[in-house]
Amino acid sequence: MDASKVAAVPRFLYGTAWKEEDTRRCVVAAIEAGFRGIDTANQRVHYHEVAVGEALADLYGRGVVSRQDLFLQTKFTPRGGQDHRLPYDEAAPLKQQVAQSFSSSLGHLGTDFVDSYVLHGPTNPARLSTADWDIWRAIEELHRAGQTRYVGVSNVNLDQLRALCEGADVRPHFVQNRCFARRRWDADIRALCRDYGITYQAFSLLTANGEIARNPAFAQIVKRSGMTPPQVVFSFALALGMLPLTGTTKEAHMRDDLACTGEELDPDDLDALETIATPSVGL
Ligand SMILES: NC(=O)c1ccc[n+]([C@@H]2O[C@H](COP(=O)([O-])OP(=O)(O)OC[C@H]3O[C@@H](n4cnc5c(N)ncnc54)[C@H](OP(=O)(O)O)[C@@H]3O)[C@@H](O)[C@H]2O)c1
Repeated sequence: MDASKVAAVPRFLYGTAWKEEDTRRCVVAAIEAGFRGIDTANQRVHYHEVAVGEALADLYGRGVVSRQDLFLQTKFTPRGGQDHRLPYDEAAPLKQQVAQSFSSSLGHLGTDFVDSYVLHGPTNPARLSTADWDIWRAIEELHRAGQTRYVGVSNVNLDQLRALCEGADVRPHFVQNRCFARRRWDADIRALCRDYGITYQAFSLLTANGEIARNPAFAQIVKRSGMTPPQVVFSFALALGMLPLTGTTKEAHMRDDLACTGEELDPDDLDALETIATPSVGL
């Protein structure tokens, strides 16, 4: 891969989960709306990576974008997160499972490298297991071989992330987590990310935080800002230095989301939003 011909890490990622037969249309619409970062996974139960690749082929064919304009991120999903449609031989050693899943993703996406390759989640919910380390070492090898520009980890807790950062030869460049407002927007993990120079990717910013929509202080911020409620959340996330994901299926919402720069809210509103759902600290 030629470093002068790769996309910068975008401000926003378009997420492709749960779209099934609508995946191709959504990805085409998202790129046409202006998204340049795509998040997917070789996990057929939640993602349709083949259809993401079909959308990309359509866009390349029509000259809308080329591969070098895009930041493509996909994931290795261990056996526990998969159904029967596995992209690897489950009897093979984990190192081979990662290689098989990765190679299958390259085929699905029609590329010879990805911009980011993410461990979808540790196999043990509490700590990093031997299996997790085997998987991570295999992901590191892909990075060393130049097949993925960045590596990342998803659905991690604080102890797991600290252990990974301390023991990795190639530290994660990204953490992708569900971002709960009631945990001060995953403040502990974000602080550790800052210490290690990791970019925090936030998913479920809207769907995990329905309670803030009912908060009068949030309604006031929405009114004052002139933005929609989702735009307030995304602008806040951007202002905090997060890389947000959105998986909206609507073109109008895609444009709304992309219009956020992170500079729309004033400092008092940003302070208020940080603790808006934190018990006993909130407004
Ligand atoms: N690593 C993991 O384990 C993991 C887990 C979950 C998700 N993800 C990634 O994150 C992506 C996003 O998932 P998500 O959980 O954040 O949920 P999402 O798929 O982005 O869902 C957002 C919901 O909010 C609605 N919405 C309303 N107004 C919106 C607006 N202006 N902008 C955006 N949405 C609006 C959407 O409906 P409309 O379609 O009608 O707009 C949709 O129902 C996924 O596609 C996937 O790539 C990763």
